[in-house]
Amino acid sequence: MSAAVARFRAALMQQLGPGVSVSLFWKGRVALHAILRALGVGPGDEVVLPGFTCVVVPNAVLYTGARPVYADIDAATYTLDVAGVERCLSPRTRVILAQNTFGHPPDLDPLLALARARGIHVVEDCAHGFGARYRGRPAGTTADAAFFSGQWSKPICTGLGGIAVTRDPALAARLQELETTALAPGRAERRMLHALWWARHFLLTPERYVRAQALYRALGRCGLVVGSSRAEELLAPVEPRGFHKRLSPEQAARGVDELAALPKRLRHRTRVATWWRTALRARGFAIADPPAWATHGWLRLPIEVTDKAALLDRAAAHRLELGDWFGSPLHPVTHSLSSWGYPAGSCPVAEAACRRIVNLPTHERIDEAYVERAVMTLKPQPSRRE
Ligand SMILES: Cc1ncc(COP(=O)(O)O)c(C=O)c1O
Repeated sequence: MSAAVARFRAALMQQLGPGVSVSLFWKGRVALHAILRALGVGPGDEVVLPGFTCVVVPNAVLYTGARPVYADIDAATYTLDVAGVERCLSPRTRVILAQNTFGHPPDLDPLLALARARGIHVVEDCAHGFGARYRGRPAGTTADAAFFSGQWSKPICTGLGGIAVTRDPALAARLQELETTALAPGRAERRMLHALWWARHFLLTPERYVRAQALYRALGRCGLVVGSSRAEELLAPVEPRGFHKRLSPEQAARGVDELAALPKRLRHRTRVATWWRTALRARGFAIADPPAWATHGWLRLPIEVTDKAALLDRAAAHRLELGDWFGSPLHPVTHSLSSWGYPAGSCPVAEAACRRIVNLPTHERIDEAYVERAVMTLKPQPSRRE
């Protein structure tokens, strides 16, 4: 194991608290797949997850041979609705995948109560959630296992990256074995990721965000850069060759620096979220504060608007950063969701949110003047819920 990987692992363990074991993978989806494999999930099993996620999440479930079952979300927090989850459970359910959405943790205690009574595992999807807390505990440390993403837009950015964590020693041993036997990233993709890192560092401003993101997604899908997702992952749930890869030393070295910078960044995100909320409330948006049990990580600030498409166009025209996710229950896939086992209409709250939701940035390059300019320029209109 490289020294950088060992340092990152140790820093993560220190950050997440005593008893937490860490395994490191190339992407968050690979970490999730490893957790499901380590739990023995396979054909005939069911995994309950929100119908308001990224398609790579059900992909990881389907690669194991298990069936994804989609539960609806809570309209206020965009995380799993507990009553909806209960309706999805069957004797074949092996895992509930509880997603942190935009930094908002899911309400884990009622989900754990449902799961414990039936011998089901709860895994936290903390791709958005590093630094958030549930009832005072760091996100990712309450359920049976969790994974984080180190992808570009996430709270700690290792370019791409996946972190699997658990407090269960037997599960930790199986995950460690899966990390050890994973493919090592090739020299060319490591170099490219390194180059992309510096390109992002020097060139990406909120003004360039929309075009840069479109270019990166297009090049990534063609395989011309190391992208977040390859075209094949968005076409069908078939495991791509070379999927099961571990984290590279360069990613780990970035991760150590990112962890050190995290407390300052979290404070900044919280401040920016307050500016957005104040400005948006003044425009008539009813923005609820998070419940007392949730310490929000404020990766993004979601709002629902009357005309999402027009607002996204206006943001692009004015070079303002505005996220479009999740634009479908299995973002970014909008057609043939049945290929991923999603029955149209099965998560009505999530589907309505997809039509109206946009999300606002809170990262280091956003300041109060940017927030004011964006709200003045975009003039977003709050949507009344259907
Ligand atoms: C909610 C959620 N879970 C999991 C993932 C997968 O993470 P990664 O891109 O690191 O594979 C994403 C992707 O961004 C996501 O939005």
